[in-house]
Amino acid sequence: MSVLRGKKILLGITAGIAAYKTANLVRLFIKLGAEVKVIMTPASKDFITPLTLSTLSKNPVHSAFYSKEDENELWNNHVDLGLWADYMLIAPATANTLSKMVSGTCNNLLLATYLSAKCPVYFAPAMDLDMYQHPSTKQSLEKLQSFGNILIPATSGELASGLVGEGRMAAPEDIVSFIENNILSKLPLKGKKVLLTAGPTYEAIDPVRFIGNHSSGKMGFAIAKAAANLGAEVYLISGPSHQQIQHSLVHRIDVVSAEEMYQASHQYFNEVDIAILSAAVADYKPKNLATQKIKKTAASLEIQLTPTKDILASLGKIKKHQFLVGFALETHNEIQNAKSKLEKKNLDAIVLNSLQDKGAGFATDTNKITIIDKDLNEKSFELKSKVAVAEDIINEIIKKLV
Ligand code: CTP
Repeated sequence: MSVLRGKKILLGITAGIAAYKTANLVRLFIKLGAEVKVIMTPASKDFITPLTLSTLSKNPVHSAFYSKEDENELWNNHVDLGLWADYMLIAPATANTLSKMVSGTCNNLLLATYLSAKCPVYFAPAMDLDMYQHPSTKQSLEKLQSFGNILIPATSGELASGLVGEGRMAAPEDIVSFIENNILSKLPLKGKKVLLTAGPTYEAIDPVRFIGNHSSGKMGFAIAKAAANLGAEVYLISGPSHQQIQHSLVHRIDVVSAEEMYQASHQYFNEVDIAILSAAVADYKPKNLATQKIKKTAASLEIQLTPTKDILASLGKIKKHQFLVGFALETHNEIQNAKSKLEKKNLDAIVLNSLQDKGAGFATDTNKITIIDKDLNEKSFELKSKVAVAEDIINEIIKKLV
Protein backbone atom coordinates (compact mmCIF):
# COMPACT_ATOMS: atom_id res chain seq x y z
CA MET A 1 0.00 0.00 0.00
CA SER A 2 1.33 3.42 -0.93
CA VAL A 3 2.01 6.03 1.75
CA LEU A 4 0.02 8.36 -0.49
CA ARG A 5 -3.20 6.40 -0.02
CA GLY A 6 -5.86 8.69 1.47
CA LYS A 7 -3.54 11.71 1.32
CA LYS A 8 -4.59 15.08 -0.08
CA ILE A 9 -2.27 16.37 -2.77
CA LEU A 10 -2.38 19.87 -4.14
CA LEU A 11 -0.76 20.02 -7.55
CA GLY A 12 0.36 23.45 -8.75
CA ILE A 13 1.06 23.66 -12.47
CA THR A 14 3.07 26.48 -14.04
CA ALA A 15 3.66 27.42 -17.66
CA GLY A 16 6.26 25.04 -19.04
CA ILE A 17 5.92 22.57 -21.87
CA ALA A 18 6.27 19.74 -19.29
CA ALA A 19 2.79 20.74 -18.07
CA TYR A 20 1.38 18.25 -20.57
CA LYS A 21 2.84 15.46 -18.43
CA THR A 22 0.76 16.48 -15.41
CA ALA A 23 -2.29 14.61 -16.73
CA ASN A 24 -0.33 11.41 -16.13
CA LEU A 25 0.87 12.67 -12.77
CA VAL A 26 -2.72 13.22 -11.59
CA ARG A 27 -3.70 9.76 -12.84
CA LEU A 28 -0.81 8.11 -10.96
CA PHE A 29 -1.70 9.87 -7.68
CA ILE A 30 -5.37 8.89 -8.03
CA LYS A 31 -4.40 5.29 -8.80
CA LEU A 32 -2.44 5.17 -5.53
CA GLY A 33 -5.54 6.27 -3.62
CA ALA A 34 -4.65 9.95 -3.12
CA GLU A 35 -7.10 12.84 -3.53
CA VAL A 36 -5.86 15.52 -5.91
CA LYS A 37 -6.78 19.18 -6.39
CA VAL A 38 -5.12 21.21 -9.11
CA ILE A 39 -4.28 24.89 -9.27
CA MET A 40 -2.75 26.41 -12.37
CA THR A 41 -1.07 29.66 -13.28
CA PRO A 42 -3.13 31.39 -16.00
CA ALA A 43 -0.36 30.90 -18.59
CA SER A 44 -0.09 27.15 -17.93
CA LYS A 45 -3.55 26.71 -19.48
CA ASP A 46 -1.86 27.18 -22.88
CA PHE A 47 -0.09 23.86 -22.31
CA ILE A 48 -2.84 21.69 -20.81
CA THR A 49 -6.53 22.38 -20.33
CA PRO A 50 -8.25 22.68 -16.95
CA LEU A 51 -10.95 20.36 -18.33
CA THR A 52 -8.44 17.51 -18.72
CA LEU A 53 -7.19 18.03 -15.18
CA SER A 54 -10.61 18.45 -13.55
CA THR A 55 -11.83 15.30 -15.31
CA LEU A 56 -8.84 13.27 -14.13
CA SER A 57 -8.74 14.69 -10.60
CA LYS A 58 -12.56 14.74 -10.22
CA ASN A 59 -12.21 18.17 -8.60
CA PRO A 60 -12.63 21.72 -9.94
CA VAL A 61 -9.41 23.30 -11.17
CA HIS A 62 -8.70 26.88 -10.13
CA SER A 63 -6.37 29.46 -11.62
CA ALA A 64 -7.81 32.78 -10.49
CA PHE A 65 -8.64 34.36 -7.16
CA TYR A 66 -12.32 34.56 -8.17
CA SER A 67 -14.63 32.26 -10.15
CA LYS A 68 -17.80 33.47 -11.84
CA GLU A 69 -20.85 31.35 -11.22
CA ASP A 70 -24.13 32.82 -12.50
CA GLU A 71 -23.81 36.46 -11.53
CA ASN A 72 -22.04 35.80 -8.25
CA GLU A 73 -18.31 36.02 -7.93
CA LEU A 74 -16.86 33.26 -5.71
CA TRP A 75 -13.55 33.65 -3.93
CA ASN A 76 -11.21 30.70 -4.48
CA ASN A 77 -9.91 30.60 -0.96
CA HIS A 78 -6.15 30.04 -1.25
CA VAL A 79 -5.79 29.78 2.53
CA ASP A 80 -8.30 26.91 2.66
CA LEU A 81 -6.60 25.20 -0.28
CA GLY A 82 -3.18 25.54 1.36
CA LEU A 83 -4.48 24.12 4.65
CA TRP A 84 -6.44 21.33 2.91
CA ALA A 85 -3.32 19.73 1.48
CA ASP A 86 -1.20 17.05 3.15
CA TYR A 87 1.41 17.65 0.44
CA MET A 88 1.83 20.33 -2.20
CA LEU A 89 3.69 19.66 -5.44
CA ILE A 90 4.62 22.36 -7.93
CA ALA A 91 5.31 20.65 -11.25
CA PRO A 92 6.52 21.83 -13.60
CA ALA A 93 8.08 24.72 -11.68
CA THR A 94 9.38 27.34 -14.13
CA ALA A 95 12.29 29.70 -13.47
CA ASN A 96 9.77 32.53 -13.21
CA THR A 97 7.71 30.78 -10.50
CA LEU A 98 10.81 29.64 -8.62
CA SER A 99 12.10 33.20 -8.35
CA LYS A 100 8.67 34.44 -7.22
CA MET A 101 8.51 31.68 -4.59
CA VAL A 102 11.89 32.89 -3.32
CA SER A 103 10.83 36.52 -3.07
CA GLY A 104 7.33 35.81 -1.76
CA THR A 105 5.67 37.47 -4.74
CA CYS A 106 2.07 36.44 -4.89
CA ASN A 107 0.46 37.72 -8.03
CA ASN A 108 -1.48 34.55 -8.82
CA LEU A 109 -3.54 31.95 -6.97
CA LEU A 110 -0.80 29.32 -7.10
CA LEU A 111 1.77 31.57 -5.42
CA ALA A 112 -0.72 32.78 -2.80
CA THR A 113 -1.60 29.16 -2.01
CA TYR A 114 2.09 28.24 -1.80
CA LEU A 115 2.59 31.02 0.76
CA SER A 116 -0.43 29.78 2.75
CA ALA A 117 0.49 26.08 2.70
CA LYS A 118 1.74 24.58 5.96
CA CYS A 119 2.37 21.12 4.51
CA PRO A 120 5.61 19.87 2.91
CA VAL A 121 6.06 21.46 -0.53
CA TYR A 122 7.81 19.54 -3.32
CA PHE A 123 8.86 21.28 -6.51
CA ALA A 124 9.98 19.79 -9.81
CA PRO A 125 11.77 22.40 -11.96
CA ALA A 126 11.57 22.32 -15.73
CA MET A 127 13.32 24.74 -18.04
CA ASP A 128 15.90 24.93 -20.77
CA LEU A 129 19.53 23.91 -20.26
CA ASP A 130 21.07 27.37 -19.89
CA MET A 131 18.23 28.65 -17.75
CA TYR A 132 18.72 25.71 -15.36
CA GLN A 133 22.47 26.42 -15.19
CA HIS A 134 22.02 30.16 -14.60
CA PRO A 135 23.37 31.34 -11.22
CA SER A 136 20.05 32.99 -10.41
CA THR A 137 18.20 29.68 -10.93
CA LYS A 138 20.79 27.83 -8.87
CA GLN A 139 20.36 30.44 -6.15
CA SER A 140 16.56 30.01 -6.30
CA LEU A 141 16.87 26.23 -5.89
CA GLU A 142 19.17 26.66 -2.90
CA LYS A 143 17.03 29.35 -1.29
CA LEU A 144 13.82 27.34 -1.71
CA GLN A 145 15.43 24.30 -0.12
CA SER A 146 16.68 26.44 2.76
CA PHE A 147 13.02 27.41 3.32
CA GLY A 148 12.28 23.69 3.80
CA ASN A 149 10.85 23.00 0.34
CA ILE A 150 11.89 19.73 -1.26
CA LEU A 151 13.56 19.75 -4.66
CA ILE A 152 12.80 16.98 -7.15
CA PRO A 153 15.79 17.58 -9.44
CA ALA A 154 15.37 18.02 -13.17
CA THR A 155 16.85 15.26 -15.30
CA SER A 156 18.98 15.28 -18.44
CA GLY A 157 17.61 14.66 -21.88
CA GLU A 158 16.36 16.31 -25.01
CA LEU A 159 14.72 19.63 -24.19
CA ALA A 160 11.93 21.48 -26.01
CA SER A 161 14.56 23.81 -27.54
CA GLY A 162 16.29 20.85 -29.17
CA LEU A 163 19.26 21.22 -26.84
CA VAL A 164 20.30 18.21 -24.84
CA GLY A 165 21.13 18.54 -21.15
CA GLU A 166 19.79 19.06 -17.66
CA GLY A 167 16.45 20.84 -17.28
CA ARG A 168 13.83 18.24 -18.13
CA MET A 169 11.12 17.77 -15.50
CA ALA A 170 11.49 14.39 -13.77
CA ALA A 171 9.18 11.77 -15.27
CA PRO A 172 5.76 11.53 -13.53
CA GLU A 173 6.51 7.97 -12.29
CA ASP A 174 9.82 9.21 -10.83
CA ILE A 175 8.16 12.22 -9.19
CA VAL A 176 5.65 9.92 -7.50
CA SER A 177 8.29 7.49 -6.23
CA PHE A 178 10.50 10.39 -5.12
CA ILE A 179 7.65 11.73 -2.98
CA GLU A 180 6.75 8.25 -1.63
CA ASN A 181 10.38 7.54 -0.67
CA ASN A 182 10.80 10.96 0.85
CA ILE A 183 7.70 10.51 3.02
CA LEU A 184 8.79 6.99 4.00
CA SER A 185 12.27 8.15 5.00
CA LYS A 186 10.74 10.61 7.48
CA LEU A 187 8.25 8.22 9.10
CA PRO A 188 8.90 7.86 12.85
CA LEU A 189 9.11 4.04 12.75
CA LYS A 190 11.22 3.86 9.58
CA GLY A 191 13.90 1.19 10.09
CA LYS A 192 12.14 -0.25 13.16
CA LYS A 193 10.82 -3.79 13.40
CA VAL A 194 7.70 -4.68 15.33
CA LEU A 195 6.45 -8.07 16.52
CA LEU A 196 2.71 -8.35 17.06
CA THR A 197 0.57 -11.22 18.29
CA ALA A 198 -3.14 -11.07 17.48
CA GLY A 199 -6.34 -13.07 17.58
CA PRO A 200 -7.21 -16.16 19.60
CA THR A 201 -5.41 -19.49 19.87
CA TYR A 202 -7.11 -22.84 19.40
CA GLU A 203 -6.05 -25.71 21.66
CA ALA A 204 -6.98 -29.04 20.14
CA ILE A 205 -8.99 -31.56 22.18
CA ASP A 206 -9.22 -34.14 19.40
CA PRO A 207 -8.93 -33.95 15.59
CA VAL A 208 -12.20 -31.95 15.30
CA ARG A 209 -12.63 -30.01 18.56
CA PHE A 210 -10.70 -27.27 20.28
CA ILE A 211 -10.75 -24.80 23.16
CA GLY A 212 -10.86 -21.25 21.81
CA ASN A 213 -12.20 -17.80 22.58
CA HIS A 214 -14.11 -14.97 20.90
CA SER A 215 -11.12 -12.77 20.01
CA SER A 216 -11.54 -11.45 16.44
CA GLY A 217 -7.99 -10.16 15.99
CA LYS A 218 -9.34 -6.71 15.00
CA MET A 219 -7.31 -4.82 17.59
CA GLY A 220 -4.03 -6.54 16.76
CA PHE A 221 -4.51 -6.18 13.01
CA ALA A 222 -5.30 -2.47 13.45
CA ILE A 223 -2.09 -2.02 15.47
CA ALA A 224 -0.10 -3.85 12.77
CA LYS A 225 -1.46 -1.48 10.15
CA ALA A 226 -0.90 1.64 12.28
CA ALA A 227 2.74 0.63 12.87
CA ALA A 228 3.32 -0.17 9.18
CA ASN A 229 1.73 3.12 8.13
CA LEU A 230 4.40 4.85 10.22
CA GLY A 231 7.18 2.95 8.45
CA ALA A 232 7.72 -0.11 10.68
CA GLU A 233 8.31 -3.58 9.31
CA VAL A 234 5.77 -5.71 11.12
CA TYR A 235 5.77 -9.46 11.90
CA LEU A 236 2.13 -10.17 12.62
CA ILE A 237 1.73 -13.55 14.30
CA SER A 238 -1.96 -14.30 14.09
CA GLY A 239 -4.10 -17.01 15.60
CA PRO A 240 -7.13 -18.17 13.58
CA SER A 241 -8.81 -14.94 12.40
CA HIS A 242 -10.93 -13.72 9.49
CA GLN A 243 -9.12 -10.38 9.45
CA GLN A 244 -7.34 -9.40 6.24
CA ILE A 245 -4.35 -7.11 5.87
CA GLN A 246 -2.71 -5.79 2.71
CA HIS A 247 0.44 -3.81 3.42
CA SER A 248 3.87 -4.22 1.91
CA LEU A 249 5.48 -3.81 5.35
CA VAL A 250 3.33 -6.39 7.16
CA HIS A 251 4.46 -10.04 7.13
CA ARG A 252 1.67 -12.28 8.36
CA ILE A 253 2.56 -15.53 10.11
CA ASP A 254 -0.48 -17.73 10.75
CA VAL A 255 -0.48 -20.03 13.75
CA VAL A 256 -3.15 -22.06 15.52
CA SER A 257 -2.10 -23.01 19.05
CA ALA A 258 -0.43 -21.18 21.94
CA GLU A 259 2.64 -23.39 21.43
CA GLU A 260 2.92 -22.36 17.76
CA MET A 261 2.48 -18.69 18.72
CA TYR A 262 5.17 -19.12 21.39
CA GLN A 263 7.63 -20.65 18.87
CA ALA A 264 6.97 -17.99 16.21
CA SER A 265 7.23 -15.11 18.73
CA HIS A 266 10.58 -16.38 19.97
CA GLN A 267 11.80 -16.82 16.40
CA TYR A 268 11.30 -13.10 15.62
CA PHE A 269 11.82 -11.47 19.04
CA ASN A 270 15.61 -11.05 18.84
CA GLU A 271 15.47 -8.95 15.69
CA VAL A 272 12.64 -6.59 16.67
CA ASP A 273 12.68 -3.23 18.44
CA ILE A 274 9.11 -3.33 19.71
CA ALA A 275 6.89 -6.30 20.65
CA ILE A 276 3.17 -5.82 21.24
CA LEU A 277 1.33 -8.90 22.46
CA SER A 278 -2.36 -8.36 21.90
CA ALA A 279 -3.36 -11.98 21.28
CA ALA A 280 -5.94 -13.66 23.50
CA VAL A 281 -3.78 -16.70 24.14
CA ALA A 282 -5.48 -19.68 25.78
CA ASP A 283 -4.19 -20.04 29.32
CA TYR A 284 -4.83 -23.80 29.34
CA LYS A 285 -4.75 -26.61 26.83
CA PRO A 286 -5.89 -30.25 27.06
CA LYS A 287 -3.23 -32.31 28.80
CA ASN A 288 -3.64 -35.16 26.33
CA LEU A 289 -4.60 -34.74 22.70
CA ALA A 290 -6.95 -37.52 21.59
CA THR A 291 -5.68 -38.85 18.31
CA GLN A 292 -9.17 -39.95 17.28
CA LYS A 293 -12.51 -38.18 17.57
CA ILE A 294 -13.88 -38.59 21.10
CA LYS A 295 -17.11 -40.59 20.88
CA LYS A 296 -20.30 -39.78 22.82
CA THR A 297 -20.17 -42.94 24.88
CA ALA A 298 -19.83 -41.86 28.51
CA ALA A 299 -22.51 -39.97 30.53
CA SER A 300 -19.98 -37.25 31.33
CA LEU A 301 -16.58 -36.32 30.08
CA GLU A 302 -13.68 -34.72 31.87
CA ILE A 303 -10.86 -33.11 30.00
CA GLN A 304 -7.78 -32.46 32.05
CA LEU A 305 -6.10 -29.14 31.26
CA THR A 306 -2.54 -28.02 31.64
CA PRO A 307 -1.20 -24.42 31.42
CA THR A 308 0.13 -23.12 28.10
CA LYS A 309 3.42 -21.25 28.03
CA ASP A 310 3.01 -17.56 28.84
CA ILE A 311 4.56 -15.96 25.75
CA LEU A 312 4.62 -12.43 27.15
CA ALA A 313 6.23 -13.46 30.43
CA SER A 314 8.85 -15.53 28.59
CA LEU A 315 9.76 -12.56 26.37
CA GLY A 316 9.90 -10.31 29.45
CA LYS A 317 12.56 -12.62 30.88
CA ILE A 318 14.85 -12.50 27.85
CA LYS A 319 14.27 -8.95 26.60
CA LYS A 320 17.28 -6.70 26.00
CA HIS A 321 16.71 -3.59 23.88
CA GLN A 322 13.10 -4.47 23.00
CA PHE A 323 10.17 -2.28 24.11
CA LEU A 324 7.68 -4.87 25.34
CA VAL A 325 3.96 -4.13 25.53
CA GLY A 326 1.27 -6.43 26.89
CA PHE A 327 -2.50 -6.30 27.08
CA ALA A 328 -4.70 -6.87 30.10
CA LEU A 329 -8.39 -7.63 29.78
CA GLU A 330 -9.92 -7.24 33.21
CA THR A 331 -13.33 -7.30 34.83
CA HIS A 332 -12.50 -5.99 38.32
CA ASN A 333 -9.64 -4.25 40.18
CA GLU A 334 -8.56 -3.33 36.68
CA ILE A 335 -5.73 -0.85 37.30
CA GLN A 336 -4.29 -2.88 40.13
CA ASN A 337 -4.37 -6.14 38.14
CA ALA A 338 -2.85 -4.47 35.08
CA LYS A 339 -0.03 -2.92 37.14
CA SER A 340 0.79 -6.24 38.74
CA LYS A 341 0.90 -7.93 35.27
CA LEU A 342 3.21 -5.14 34.06
CA GLU A 343 5.64 -5.76 36.90
CA LYS A 344 5.36 -9.54 36.97
CA LYS A 345 5.96 -9.91 33.23
CA ASN A 346 8.71 -7.21 33.09
CA LEU A 347 6.89 -4.99 30.56
CA ASP A 348 7.58 -1.45 29.38
CA ALA A 349 3.88 -0.71 29.07
CA ILE A 350 0.53 -2.43 29.36
CA VAL A 351 -2.73 -1.64 27.56
CA LEU A 352 -5.72 -2.17 29.80
CA ASN A 353 -9.23 -2.97 28.54
CA SER A 354 -11.93 -3.14 31.14
CA LEU A 355 -14.97 -5.27 30.41
CA GLN A 356 -16.85 -2.84 32.71
CA ASP A 357 -16.61 -0.28 29.87
CA LYS A 358 -19.35 -0.49 27.27
CA GLY A 359 -17.90 -0.86 23.77
CA ALA A 360 -14.59 -2.33 24.95
CA GLY A 361 -13.27 -5.84 24.48
CA PHE A 362 -13.54 -8.67 21.94
CA ALA A 363 -16.59 -8.51 19.75
CA THR A 364 -16.81 -4.76 19.11
CA ASP A 365 -15.38 -2.35 16.54
CA THR A 366 -14.56 0.06 19.35
CA ASN A 367 -12.32 -0.03 22.37
CA LYS A 368 -11.56 2.04 25.44
CA ILE A 369 -8.10 1.74 26.88
CA THR A 370 -5.76 2.94 29.59
CA ILE A 371 -2.03 2.73 28.95
CA ILE A 372 0.20 2.23 31.98
CA ASP A 373 3.95 2.65 31.58
CA LYS A 374 6.72 1.08 33.62
CA ASP A 375 6.84 4.08 35.96
CA LEU A 376 3.17 3.27 36.59
CA ASN A 377 1.92 6.47 34.93
CA GLU A 378 -1.64 5.97 33.66
CA LYS A 379 -3.15 7.55 30.55
CA SER A 380 -6.81 6.93 29.78
CA PHE A 381 -8.39 7.40 26.36
CA GLU A 382 -11.99 7.94 25.22
CA LEU A 383 -14.05 5.19 23.60
CA LYS A 384 -12.84 5.13 19.97
CA SER A 385 -12.80 2.90 16.90
CA LYS A 386 -10.17 0.15 17.12
CA VAL A 387 -8.35 1.86 14.23
CA ALA A 388 -8.07 5.10 16.23
CA VAL A 389 -7.12 3.18 19.40
CA ALA A 390 -4.35 1.43 17.44
CA GLU A 391 -2.97 4.82 16.36
CA ASP A 392 -3.05 6.03 19.99
CA ILE A 393 -1.14 2.95 21.14
CA ILE A 394 1.55 3.34 18.47
CA ASN A 395 1.88 7.08 19.09
CA GLU A 396 2.31 6.51 22.83
CA ILE A 397 5.02 3.91 22.16
CA ILE A 398 6.82 6.34 19.82
CA LYS A 399 6.72 9.03 22.52
CA LYS A 400 8.29 6.60 25.02
CA LEU A 401 11.01 5.59 22.53
CA VAL A 402 12.29 9.10 21.74
N1 CTP B 1 -0.33 -13.76 27.11
C1 CTP B 1 0.65 -14.50 26.47
N2 CTP B 1 0.69 -15.84 26.59
C2 CTP B 1 -0.21 -16.49 27.35
C3 CTP B 1 -1.21 -15.76 28.02
C4 CTP B 1 -1.24 -14.40 27.87
O1 CTP B 1 1.48 -13.91 25.75
N3 CTP B 1 -0.14 -17.82 27.44
C5 CTP B 1 -0.32 -12.29 26.98
C6 CTP B 1 -1.51 -11.71 26.27
O2 CTP B 1 -1.27 -11.61 24.88
C7 CTP B 1 -1.62 -10.35 26.93
C8 CTP B 1 -1.13 -10.58 28.33
O3 CTP B 1 -0.38 -11.77 28.29
O4 CTP B 1 -0.73 -9.42 26.33
C9 CTP B 1 -2.18 -10.68 29.39
O5 CTP B 1 -2.96 -11.77 29.24
P1 CTP B 1 -4.13 -12.12 30.28
O6 CTP B 1 -4.72 -13.41 29.87
O7 CTP B 1 -5.02 -10.97 30.47
O8 CTP B 1 -3.32 -12.26 31.60
P2 CTP B 1 -2.84 -13.53 32.32
O9 CTP B 1 -1.43 -13.26 32.68
O10 CTP B 1 -3.10 -14.73 31.51
O11 CTP B 1 -3.69 -13.49 33.64
P3 CTP B 1 -5.26 -13.75 33.92
O12 CTP B 1 -5.81 -14.55 32.75
O13 CTP B 1 -5.25 -14.47 35.18
O14 CTP B 1 -5.87 -12.40 34.02
